[in-house]
Amino acid sequence: MKILVVGSGGREHALVWKIAQSPLAGKIYCAPGNGGIEEIAQCLDIAADDINALLDFAQSEKIDLTVVGPEVPLAAGIVDVFQSKGLKIFGPSLLASRLESSKVFAKNIMKKYNIPTSGFEEFTDLDCAIKFVREAKRSLVIKADGLCAGKGVFVCATLEEQEQAINSILKDKIFGDSGGRIIIEECLVGPEASIIVISDGDNVITLASSQDHKRIFDDDMGPNTGGMGAYSPAPVVTDEALKYIQERIIFPTIAGMKSEGTPFCGVLYAGVMITNDGPKVLEFNVRFGDPETQAILPRLKSDLLEMILKSVDKKLKGYVAKWDTRSCVCVVAVSGGYPGAYKKEKLINGLNEVDGTKDEIVFHAGTKKTEGKILTSGGRVLGITSLGNDIKSAIDNTYAVLDKINFESMFFRRDIGKKALGVYAE
Ligand code: AMP
Ligand code: GLY
Repeated sequence: MKILVVGSGGREHALVWKIAQSPLAGKIYCAPGNGGIEEIAQCLDIAADDINALLDFAQSEKIDLTVVGPEVPLAAGIVDVFQSKGLKIFGPSLLASRLESSKVFAKNIMKKYNIPTSGFEEFTDLDCAIKFVREAKRSLVIKADGLCAGKGVFVCATLEEQEQAINSILKDKIFGDSGGRIIIEECLVGPEASIIVISDGDNVITLASSQDHKRIFDDDMGPNTGGMGAYSPAPVVTDEALKYIQERIIFPTIAGMKSEGTPFCGVLYAGVMITNDGPKVLEFNVRFGDPETQAILPRLKSDLLEMILKSVDKKLKGYVAKWDTRSCVCVVAVSGGYPGAYKKEKLINGLNEVDGTKDEIVFHAGTKKTEGKILTSGGRVLGITSLGNDIKSAIDNTYAVLDKINFESMFFRRDIGKKALGVYAE
């Protein structure tokens, strides 16, 4: 079957890499793809959010299945458009995508269906929001309602920070329409984990747990990024925590979305914090995580394409995914300066020295191939990924691979997976 994968990051490289291993897969296209994806799929000069051009291509090439990586085309309704033309596509509808594209919507669903999350208030009025934080006198989290490419959340310990965050969103409109409304919520404390499931609207397959590292520097210092590395499994997600997350968070959300008349088909990602009162939802995403996917898929023994097709065809019931019991670590190498301004077009050396066995994979994110050479083209450049018999050996393997690779101003965190080591040591 002919497959089109939409997106250009490390997540999409991992998706194409895994889908290509399926006996069901025929020719794979990726729009727009990157320098690594180009090795295993045909990349197209179509932006991930150019829904009309993607539709034209899928219709003219008779694509059998489209798999959408990023949230922007989902929130813009790519699934509804493709389905209205009779095309098979994996992802939630525009209305179901509101679980990610509107934090107010997501919070109200959680409230209605009694899904554990932090207490919150919603505001559109600047003065009301300022009055609220002045009276609250405690740490709070201020969130813009709409999509902000991961930048719309401010964890604020002081009143000054809270007022600044509110002013920047509601008055200065730094996020434009995405910041027309805000959520002000209680600040939770605890380790974080990502629980990602595939749903057909009724049934779910829960993927292996993982943990992201959002801050740029070691020990979670510095500004937030798209994600500097991930590992799977996340030992903070004990069997007991997972059961609770499934029964109190995942299943009621899927059932709730169905009873709202907007069933959720596709990937649901719950970002959770394991608090002293149990796991609570920080956010929902309606797509695979990046870089979590790079650490999860190398552990998946089952056929991802088969799982996706069963989701699209609403036949997930009873499906059990098989997992490699080993650990997987993905360390993201970025271009110096990221998440601020960074250099591009730098030659990446050492890629040929990675032997490319199944246990060591270099997923590409911001790369492009020019005249046979791989150059940097984005902030997050590569996701160096290895399996290991335990988390310690997965970490060691990954950093050993990283030693072989370099490009001008390359930067990466040196502590990816360290938290899991701490938990194991307990
Ligand atoms: P989000 O994009 O909503 O996941 O938020 C980005 C990051 O902000 C999360 O990974 C957490 O580290 C932090 N965060 C979000 N909500 C809260 C909260 N209610 N309490 C504490 N930290 C939070
Ligand atoms: N790793 C965080 C995200 O995909 O949003």
